[in-house]
Amino acid sequence: EKGGYDSFMEKEINEQPKAVEDTLLGRTDAQGRLTLDELRISPEQLKETSKIIVLACGTAAYAGTVAKYAIEHWTRIPVEVELAHEFRYRDPIIDQTTLVVSISQSGETMDTLMAVRYAKEQGARTLSICNTNGSTIPRESDAVLYLHAGPEIAVASTKAFLAMITASYLLGLYLAQLRGQLFSGQISDILADLHKIPAKIQTILDGAEPIKALARDMAQTPSVLFLGRHVGFPVAMEGALKLKELAYIHAEGFAAGELKHGPIALIEEGQPVFVVVPSPRGRDSLHSKVVSNIQEVRARGAKTITVAEQGDAAVTEYSENVFFVPETQPLLMPLLTTVPLQIFACALATEKGYDVDQPRNLAKSVTVE
Ligand code: M6R
Repeated sequence: EKGGYDSFMEKEINEQPKAVEDTLLGRTDAQGRLTLDELRISPEQLKETSKIIVLACGTAAYAGTVAKYAIEHWTRIPVEVELAHEFRYRDPIIDQTTLVVSISQSGETMDTLMAVRYAKEQGARTLSICNTNGSTIPRESDAVLYLHAGPEIAVASTKAFLAMITASYLLGLYLAQLRGQLFSGQISDILADLHKIPAKIQTILDGAEPIKALARDMAQTPSVLFLGRHVGFPVAMEGALKLKELAYIHAEGFAAGELKHGPIALIEEGQPVFVVVPSPRGRDSLHSKVVSNIQEVRARGAKTITVAEQGDAAVTEYSENVFFVPETQPLLMPLLTTVPLQIFACALATEKGYDVDQPRNLAKSVTVE
């Protein structure tokens, strides 16, 4: 049942090309227009959306942060992302034109469910991005966008994370299409690039050995830091979470821009720092600022490990190890840059002899608040 792999986690990491493909499957009509037919909110209602609030926990919340960058960019609708368990305790401002998007693999996370119920009571329209057909959160929501990623067994979420990000892109593009915010040619270009992602993930999986070798070498490391910026920020957070849950190593993710506001004080000789580098073809200055961050931590003795776009010559000089990922649009990069971090955490925990499918103290779905 593990399909020849040592763990469900390894199997699910390797299923990611298919998970992304299946999330994309059947979402366009003959004219190439997006059709999200499980949406039981009318196009007119969706068009009125004045604000989106994304609610989720853990890895799903990091997918929500990626969603924020993409949806705001494509639709110009303001998007807030909030940990579901914080949401209803702050008296949030919600009305009929607020679209609350919950993201949950299991569809049973109690914190997320209670936040969705609260949002509904306050009059918001609710849409669930979920992997588990017929689970509670989608049943209680006005609309559902299923991931179709197949069952995820390992406690640590991997393929569902990539599928959640993919589904969020589809939602963003759908809203942009409805509101006439992007030309149909722009939407089909982005969709075409999304359809190329599975093969690119496969390339990373096929070249995973050096990442695993590094993980084996680093099995004794007591702490690892992760830096990212823009959509690389939630990827850094996710890389850190994977390492905490699986390898029980102290790991921390930061927005690279925060470094000089405090975290750089942590850097001492030999401290491993992963840096998720934005595309050099993206927004000017973003890439060069992150390259400066790599130099800054390296100058203070950090062991720098970078995840960068293929051909990004600027990072090589300042990196102890570089893992390249294929090119794609800057906003789509998390679908690629996450993968080396998942492989790293899984391999390191395996090297330490831990059960990667059932990490201590954790449950696959958290059904208590
Ligand atoms: O089922 P959900 O997506 O609602 O679960 C949310 C979190 O509990 C989950 O992502 C958790 O953080 C995972 N252990 C991450 O690997």
